[in-house]
Formats: sequence, structure tokens, C-alpha cells
Amino acid sequence: MQETTLDIPSTAYTDSLRLSVAPMMDWTDRHCRFFHRLLAPGARLYTEMVHANAVIHGDRERLLGFDPVEQPLALQLGGSDPALLAQAARIAADWGYDEINLNCGCPSDRVQAGRFGACLMREPALVAECVVAMAAAVAVPVTVKCRLGVDEDDDYEQFAAFVDMQVAAGSAMVVVHARNAWLKGLSPKENREIPPLKYDWAYRLKAERPRLPVVLNGGIATVEAAQAHRQHLDGVMLGRAAYHDPYVLHLLECAQTGAPARSRTELLLQMQPYVEQWLDRGLALKHISRHLLGLYAGQPGGRAFRQVLSEGAHRPGAGWELVQAAIAVTGEGRDPG
Ligand SMILES: Cc1cc2nc3c(=O)[nH]c(=O)nc-3n(C[C@H](O)[C@H](O)[C@H](O)COP(=O)(O)O)c2cc1C
Repeated sequence: MQETTLDIPSTAYTDSLRLSVAPMMDWTDRHCRFFHRLLAPGARLYTEMVHANAVIHGDRERLLGFDPVEQPLALQLGGSDPALLAQAARIAADWGYDEINLNCGCPSDRVQAGRFGACLMREPALVAECVVAMAAAVAVPVTVKCRLGVDEDDDYEQFAAFVDMQVAAGSAMVVVHARNAWLKGLSPKENREIPPLKYDWAYRLKAERPRLPVVLNGGIATVEAAQAHRQHLDGVMLGRAAYHDPYVLHLLECAQTGAPARSRTELLLQMQPYVEQWLDRGLALKHISRHLLGLYAGQPGGRAFRQVLSEGAHRPGAGWELVQAAIAVTGEGRDPG
């Protein structure tokens, strides 16, 4: 095993890793992130993956724009060309992002064809070149999100060697989605469900490299599970649970800080100025409200809330009154207690 050459990371940095929300294409856009920020003021948030070429040539306001409230915020980049990734990382750092993360975990066919995402687990030296170039281009942390391996790989040492190479190249921490990616025969969705989770590999990685910040991702859905993992690791990253049941983010934040939990309704009402500001700018409500649908998941009235909001948001001119109408059917009413 190669001990990390990493400088001892600051406490402020490692503290900010305790809870994060995963990068999710089509889901963690700026509106979703703003909402998650209200629920979990201390969480580290990630964008959807954006390809380096898009950052360089695309509509930057649309791809990179964020509200400062979302910080600490990481941009996740896709790509495998060191020079392009470095250029994109520099643009993102100038834009104000707090971290640049490289995707080494996405298994989609489109991504494989572009030679990035999870297939990079098979090209550790190329990933290291990318990390070196990105880290040289920016002052903020450059990090890697990876799997345990691809296809039939079942070799802890190979996984650990991949991580060690990226850390030696300059990755300030690693997010481990603790399962393999199967590049053939499984859809991206199946790739988040079928390959078995092996949390013990992430635990072992951390135990052997105590100074390397390690964040665990994959299948974490409850406060209890998150707290248990955090005994072994620097932090947890929640993906689907954060999206489908976002109140769990608030409960996790409260468990961490000791602050009393606020009600769902109280938290949601804080969205009003943000929503109205975007409606004034011509955005349709549905682009924000779709991220709110899971707030009352598992609660009495949760389905009715979802139904009122999802059906009504498609009507032209839908505004904040619709959110109030949806709150009214939950039984939490508008009582902020
Ligand atoms: C809709 C969706 C989109 C995703 N997009 C990305 C992405 O852009 N980049 C990435 O690294 N992972 C992506 N993922 C994977 C998640 O970041 C995470 O690794 C995975 O969902 C496992 O965590 P979970 O069990 O907490 O959901 C996506 C997952 C979902 C559900």
C-alpha cells in the first residue's frame, strides 16, 4: 500500500465533507441545489456532470450559473483530455466554484463512447494526467468520484492503487460510490442498483490511509445509516434519497449540528422569495416545483401534496399560490411549528 502524500487537510475542509448531495444529471440543477441548501445549510453540493467541452464552448451562464447561497459547491466535470479539463476547471474556479470533481463513475453508453466516466477506472494513468493538469490550473480542491472497479473486477488492491494514483496526482479527497460499474448489459439505472455495495472496501481504504479524506456514496438513505458510516469515514454523499426524500437532508444536518429540526412546511415557505424572483424572470414554476415533490414523502398528505403540485405546475401562469395549495392538503397546513 502506498501511503498518501497528501498534506493534512484543514479541519474546515474535512468538516465540510461530512454531508454532501451527489451530482445527478437532470436533477441537481441550480433550483434543486438552492432547495437542498435551505434544508441542509452545511452540506457540500454538487452540480450535474458537465462535459469539459461544454464548459469551454457552451452557454456558461446556463451551465455554470449558481446562487452564492449554494456554496460550498462543486462542479463535476466529465472528460478525459487533460488540457481541456484544465481549461474547464480554470473557467469554473474563476466562476467561483469551491471544488472541481472529475467523474470516474458514470457507466452510460454515451459516456463510454466519449471515453470518460466509469471506463476511466481502467485508465488510472490517464486520470492521473487529468488530475495533475486540473490541480495545476486551479487553487481550489480537485477531487475524484469513482466506483470500486468495472465489470468483473474484484480486486481491492487494484481499486486502492487507482485511488493512490489520483491522490499522488493531486486529488484532495475521493468520493467512493461503493460498487462496481458494469459497462456492458446494464442501464445506468441498473448500475445504481444491481452491482453489490461493498462498504467495507471504502472503510478499509480510509483505515489504511487515515489522512486521506474519504466520502462514501451508494444506498445511504437514513440518518442512522449515515451516522454509522460516519464512524468510519469523513462523510457521506446521498443521491437518490436526497432527491426523493429531501427532508432526510435536514434531519442529517440537525443530527450533526444539534439544532432542533424545523417542520417541512416552515422550510418550504422559505422558498417563496426565490420562486417569485424566478417567476418574475419568466421561468415556469414546474422547473422549480419538480424538485420539491418529495418533501412530504412518507407523510400523511404526501401523495396529495405531490399530486397538487405536479398537476398544477404544468398550467400556464402557475405561481406560488399553487405551492400554498399543495401545503394546505398536507395537514401540516401553514403552521410553521
Ligand atoms: C438521475 C441520476 C443522475 C445521476 N447523474 C450523475 C452524474 O452526473 N455524475 C455522477 O458522478 N453520478 C451521477 N449519478 C450517480 C449518483 O451521483 C450516485 O453515485 C448514485 O445515485 C448512488 O448514490 P445513491 O444510492 O445515494 O443514489 C446519478 C444518479 C441519478 C439517480
